[in-house]
Amino acid sequence: MSQRYFESVTHANVYAKFRPCPPKQLGNRIINYLKEKYEGELSLCLDAGCGNGQSSNLFSSDFKKVIATDVSSAQVTVAKTMNHPSNIEFLVSPAEQIPAKEGSVQVVSASQACHWFDLPQFFKETKRVLCSNGIVALSGYTFPKFIHPTREQDFQRAFDLLYYQRTGPYWGSGRELVDNEYSNIVLPFEDFIREEFWTEETRTTISEFVGYITTWSGYQNYCKNHGAQAGEEILTEFTSSCLKAYENNKDEGQFTIRRKYFLLMGRKGKE
Ligand SMILES: C[S@@+](CC[C@H](N)C(=O)[O-])C[C@H]1O[C@@H](n2cnc3c(N)ncnc32)[C@H](O)[C@@H]1O
Repeated sequence: MSQRYFESVTHANVYAKFRPCPPKQLGNRIINYLKEKYEGELSLCLDAGCGNGQSSNLFSSDFKKVIATDVSSAQVTVAKTMNHPSNIEFLVSPAEQIPAKEGSVQVVSASQACHWFDLPQFFKETKRVLCSNGIVALSGYTFPKFIHPTREQDFQRAFDLLYYQRTGPYWGSGRELVDNEYSNIVLPFEDFIREEFWTEETRTTISEFVGYITTWSGYQNYCKNHGAQAGEEILTEFTSSCLKAYENNKDEGQFTIRRKYFLLMGRKGKE
C-alpha cells in the first residue's frame, strides 16, 4: 500500500525551501549505467515522487524530456512555480500509474520516494513503460552525519532525541526502508546492483537545519497530532542543545555535515 504524507501546501513550501537536491554525481552514475547497454536517443526520463523537482533537474540536460510526477498536488503546484528547465513536465500522478506509453522511457527514477510507493505495482508499471535495456534507479539519502572535531556526539544526541523519541512514533512504515538504506529492497530486474557514496562536507546553519527538520513527514505528523506550538517546542529544544554543544566555540550557529546516498539500479533487458 502506498502512503501519503506530503499533501499540505505548507509542507510543500518548506520542502521547496529546505530539502537538499541530490548531487549531479548521482545523475551521472545513473546515465552511465544506462549507457552500458543502451545506445539509442535519451528521449524520455520519468522521475516518480518528484516532490518539487529536487531530483528531476538531474536529468534535464541529458534527456530531451523529463516527466516528473507526484501524487501530491501541493508538491506539484509548488514545483511549477519554481525555476525549473522547460523540458521538465510536472504532473500529478501516482507512481503506480505512469503517464507514459509502453516501451517509451529510458530511465524511471525515484529519489527519496520509493519507500512510500506500492512497490510491486510500481515495478509492474516500470516494466511496462521502460524500453529494452532501459533502467530503473531508486535512490535515497541518510540523515546527515555531523562533522566536528570534539562535539559530534553532542549533536548526534540532540538529533537522536528529536528523531527517535519526539517524532519517532509519527513516521510511516516506509521510513524503516530508508533507515535500512534500501538494503532490503530487491529489484525484480536484470543486472541488479546497489551502490553508495558520501557527499563532500558542506556547511549549514542551525536555523537552516531546523528548516530541514520541518520538511520531515514525521515532524509534520507530530504537529498535526500535538499542534503547531508543541512542534515549535521540540525545535527549540533541539536548537538549545546544539547551541549548548557549541559553548565557547567561534563556529556557533553553523554545522558541517555530510550525507550518504544509496542507489539501487536494474535493467529491463532485451525483449
Ligand atoms: C521525500 S519526498 C522526495 C521528493 C524528491 N524526489 C526529492 O528527492 O527530494 C517523497 C515524495 O514522494 C511522493 N509520493 C509518495 N507516495 C507516492 C506515490 N505513491 N506516487 C507518487 N508520489 C508519491 C510524496 O508526495 C513526496 O512528494
